[in-house]
Amino acid sequence: QELQLNLEQIEKGGYDHFMLKEIYEQPQVIRDTFRGRLLSDQGLIKMAGIEDNLNKFTNAKRIIIVACGTSWHAAQVAEYMIEEFARIPVEVEYASEFRYRNPIINADDVVIAISQSGETADTLAAIKLAKEKGAFVFGVCNVVGSSISRETHAGAYTHAGPEIGVASTKAFTTQITVLALIALRLAKAKGTMSQSDYLRNLIELELIPEKVQEALLENDRILEIAHIYKDAPNCLFLGRGFNFPVALEGALKLKEISYIHAEGYPAAEMKHGPIALIDENMPVIVIAPQQNHYDKVVSNIQEIKARSGKIIALVSKGDEQVKNLADHIIEMPNSTEALTSIIATIPLQLLSYHVAVLRGTNVDQPRNLAKSVTVE
Ligand code: AGP
Repeated sequence: QELQLNLEQIEKGGYDHFMLKEIYEQPQVIRDTFRGRLLSDQGLIKMAGIEDNLNKFTNAKRIIIVACGTSWHAAQVAEYMIEEFARIPVEVEYASEFRYRNPIINADDVVIAISQSGETADTLAAIKLAKEKGAFVFGVCNVVGSSISRETHAGAYTHAGPEIGVASTKAFTTQITVLALIALRLAKAKGTMSQSDYLRNLIELELIPEKVQEALLENDRILEIAHIYKDAPNCLFLGRGFNFPVALEGALKLKEISYIHAEGYPAAEMKHGPIALIDENMPVIVIAPQQNHYDKVVSNIQEIKARSGKIIALVSKGDEQVKNLADHIIEMPNSTEALTSIIATIPLQLLSYHVAVLRGTNVDQPRNLAKSVTVE
């Protein structure tokens, strides 16, 4: 028994849970994921699966992305990236819906399937359906030799290493890393992005590991916040643009490991109904970096404050304006609009982790959940 416990501790690298270890591995595994692919000094992105099929992507009338859960959130970030950078229409589909609704799939469609485990039954079925209809299917998986990596025509692996915690963390941020590389490579091929913007994004992507490292330094402040809100019955996560899918991901993390009901929403959508939920018992996490939508997010925060909502704001380092409005702030380094989605995820992972630990749930194996949903 003693030996078994020690072995577990060694496997967890001294962390209390696999999930915490995997949160802290993110700077390294993001680096591992772009190593050999991101050559910013040469202004190059090299991914064999993309290079060998570049025409399929550049000639595609649209790209359909199929996934489930956290991978579906990564797909949402990819939609914003690919459409903004490469100007190719993207549709994101829940694999479980796509496979049953007799979707329109054309032979010149490109389908991207995202799956950490590479064994998710719904995603596998969606791939088979797409292939039957003649589409080219590209996989983004984290497990070499997994069913999805074998079933797809081509693909690109994330290099997150084994993800043991049922709640996906490093798989999500390495998925966004791969999808950013793809979006940038396609933009370069289609000439839809200026060389300066292209190079700026390459350089910013290379800086992400150290910015994730910096975001992790807020851990103690996040633990304090977790103590205050660990018994909240509900929680809202709000974001705009690239941070809207991050709000969805933050809500999923909290739900699945702490069992608190949480919902992610586009910040501007609140006034179309959900703001009726706001009262002094509702913590609202708002992702508010000093970027394009900042002023609008600030007014969303003021709307919530006017209804006595408790505001936890993710802000750019040094932000003073939101600091005077929010009940709590968590600082994070700045990056491009798109790549801030990776950085903003970090505090949300830590918040859900600490709340779950304080609530005494089984963080690595939450109730009712499996690491890979291999059944329908
Ligand atoms: C994420 O935290 C969940 N564990 C779950 O939603 C997961 O993302 C989903 O089941 C998809 O799994 P996959 O990426 O292995 O296909």
